[in-house]
Amino acid sequence: MFGNAAWDDGLDEPQLAVATHGNTPLVVVAGAGTGKTRALTARVACLLDRGVEAERILLLTFTRRAADEMLARAAALARLSGARRPQGGTFHSMAHRYIAAYAEPLGLADGFSVADPAEARDLMDLMRPEHGLVGTSTRLPRSATLVEIYSRCVNTGRTLHEVVPVEYPWCEPHREPIASLFRAYTARKRAAGLLM
Ligand SMILES: Nc1ncnc2c1ncn2[C@@H]1O[C@H](COP(=O)(O)OP(=O)(O)OP(=O)(O)O)[C@@H](O)[C@H]1O
Ligand SMILES: [Mg+2]
Repeated sequence: MFGNAAWDDGLDEPQLAVATHGNTPLVVVAGAGTGKTRALTARVACLLDRGVEAERILLLTFTRRAADEMLARAAALARLSGARRPQGGTFHSMAHRYIAAYAEPLGLADGFSVADPAEARDLMDLMRPEHGLVGTSTRLPRSATLVEIYSRCVNTGRTLHEVVPVEYPWCEPHREPIASLFRAYTARKRAAGLLM
């Protein structure tokens, strides 16, 4: 109970099941406007009711608007004040906050900045000639494709040598220059404290 209102007031059965679920992962699939945020905020209240510290609860979502709504509703429902406020925001904002908090161990103590996809393409474009990836004699990957391949490797934890043959077989002939370009690109990013 929080004040006079019970957090489970008016929840339907599936929402109640979500809110009171135990300490194991749970995937909830539900359509637009069906009460997902309500179920999530009720879960926050339920966890607080069970004695979980608010600071140990993390609410993440995709858009800023959804994040603001979710956090406001969680706070209102649990009547949270000041310090007892669950952390949360968009995936990007939380990632940014954590990187800032741990900048030193991450080797970013001199500051860092986040580049958008256009800036990543520009940097790739700028570095391409040094690695022989310009010209018209053969079909060459564009900078957008190079950023895509780089990103695929990083996001899936695979090497270029695993990704190219399977997903970009037409880039096979250029695998070595691409590898040297990527090494230089990573070094340039590190030196500039650039994240993307
Ligand atoms: N069990 C319920 N009984 C009555 N009304 C409810 C119930 N659950 C949610 N609602 C109402 O339905 C509306 C949509 O709920 P909610 O915002 O939680 O859904 P959602 O699935 O998160 O929506 P969206 O897809 O827009 O994010 C709100 O007005 C909410 O108050
Ligand atoms: Mg919602």
